[in-house]
Amino acid sequence: MDKQNLHSTAPQEKQDKIVNMFDEIAPSYDKANRVMSLGIDVSWRVSACKKAFEALGKENIECVLDVACGTGDMLWHWQNEANKAQKHIAHLLGIDPSSGMLEVAHQKLDSLLKQGRLRLEKGEAKALNVESQSVDILSIAYGLRNVVALEEALDEFVRVLKPGGVVVILEFMNNEKKGVFDSLMRFYTSKILPLVGGLVSKNYAAYKYLPDSIQHFVSSEKLAQKLLDRGVKSYFVKSYSANISTLYVGVKI
Ligand SMILES: C[S@@+](CC[C@H](N)C(=O)[O-])C[C@H]1O[C@@H](n2cnc3c(N)ncnc32)[C@H](O)[C@@H]1O
Repeated sequence: MDKQNLHSTAPQEKQDKIVNMFDEIAPSYDKANRVMSLGIDVSWRVSACKKAFEALGKENIECVLDVACGTGDMLWHWQNEANKAQKHIAHLLGIDPSSGMLEVAHQKLDSLLKQGRLRLEKGEAKALNVESQSVDILSIAYGLRNVVALEEALDEFVRVLKPGGVVVILEFMNNEKKGVFDSLMRFYTSKILPLVGGLVSKNYAAYKYLPDSIQHFVSSEKLAQKLLDRGVKSYFVKSYSANISTLYVGVKI
């Protein structure tokens, strides 16, 4: 993938290149993720599930949709946290355009698939094959940065959510703050992470894309405003681990 020109590439071509990149790194994706985040991403995911359950306030949840589900980590956490909180999720649905990532998800989530409670589907955030107003919780973890058609995707999220439904976004947001610590974190994500991710996956270019995509992404304030413009009110917004990862939880009015 030619990372140099990615941000000036035509939208569909850019999207195709991003998806191809995920196909390439899919077999080593989970391992690289755990090494790069030192396992801390698990606590960010758990917090996301807990806050979403709190915002929704229901014991019986009809449908949880994880967009950009990748290798299925969030889907696994949704089920695990629901078990711990004694909540019941009737249907889980994971959507992602990368066949490689979905293949890993199929292997990891075999038992949920066999129970018939999980569906994994190939597709993009901008055109979800999901009925309007049918989803209780929609999550997207470290996926939104990769969605080229951001505005269309946000429209889709709001379309498929029930009124009172919850949007959960975990993302490496563009941190525009200028403090010393913020600069140190920018150095870590732009110089160290690509080296570590590149070493584990043997694909340096794919992990060089990570800081580039963060730099081109919106801030959490701008994202919250875009959702508010569409009728989704912020419920909880917090940056974790020195502003590396941000959790946004919003409720559709
Ligand atoms: C960094 S991975 C995150 C995977 C998973 N959500 C996780 O938390 O580990 C980003 C995912 O976004 C997916 N993706 C890329 N473009 C997308 C799009 N337009 N719509 C939906 N998903 C997309 C990729 O295929 C990839 O699986």
